[in-house]
Amino acid sequence: MAGRTIIAPSILASDFARLGEEVAAIEAAGADWVHVDVMDGHFVPNITIGPDVVKALRPHAKIPFDVHLMISPADPYLEAFRAAGADYISVHPEAGPHLNRTLKQIRKLGAKAGVVFNPSTDPSVIQWMMDEVDLILVMSINPGFGGQTFMHSQLRKIEALRKMIDAEGRDIPLEVDGGVTPETAPLCIAAGATALVAGTAVFRGGAERYAANIAALRG
Ligand code: DX5
Ligand code: ZN
Repeated sequence: MAGRTIIAPSILASDFARLGEEVAAIEAAGADWVHVDVMDGHFVPNITIGPDVVKALRPHAKIPFDVHLMISPADPYLEAFRAAGADYISVHPEAGPHLNRTLKQIRKLGAKAGVVFNPSTDPSVIQWMMDEVDLILVMSINPGFGGQTFMHSQLRKIEALRKMIDAEGRDIPLEVDGGVTPETAPLCIAAGATALVAGTAVFRGGAERYAANIAALRG
């Protein structure tokens, strides 16, 4: 689908001691969404931030907050993230127990419901409920850490999901997360991605580089 690629900087790569300023800086630099990586040290081998931090950051930017939950279970925390200001809430099917119930709950809370695909997760997991998905996020790394190398094997999956979205006929954003750089971004876009998450590639070089770093991902 044509249109400007959505750029969602992952604040995982920002200066955690200055998170509010970092969020304001990426908005000023042209970011479309703020990508928030939530990790529990159980579903993934790292611990990051919770709903109170999202709540504290929310006044620092007007653009949507794209909250990527790498926690299991996710259901008990959906309401808190929504109340904190999450606009998109995405979950991994493996977080369990019932993906469809989780998506319905996210929508009921008034947020957009996203599904995240680990490198090993098959597109068929959403095949029978495309009408209940508002965002598709393809991991091009194993979740847990920033700064990893892009897995080219995931390009075919992006293509497959592009076909499923086109068949559905709704403009569901198709987002890619992990190892996205000015070199790999065009590959994702050519495969059908419409949104790109980038941590390292946006936050490197300091705030004066953010606008150029974001522009470089748009190609
Ligand atoms: C990893 C996170 C990513 C990560 C991307 O689990 O989901 O959003 O921050 O970092 P980079 O862009 O550095 O690969
Ligand atoms: Zn992420």
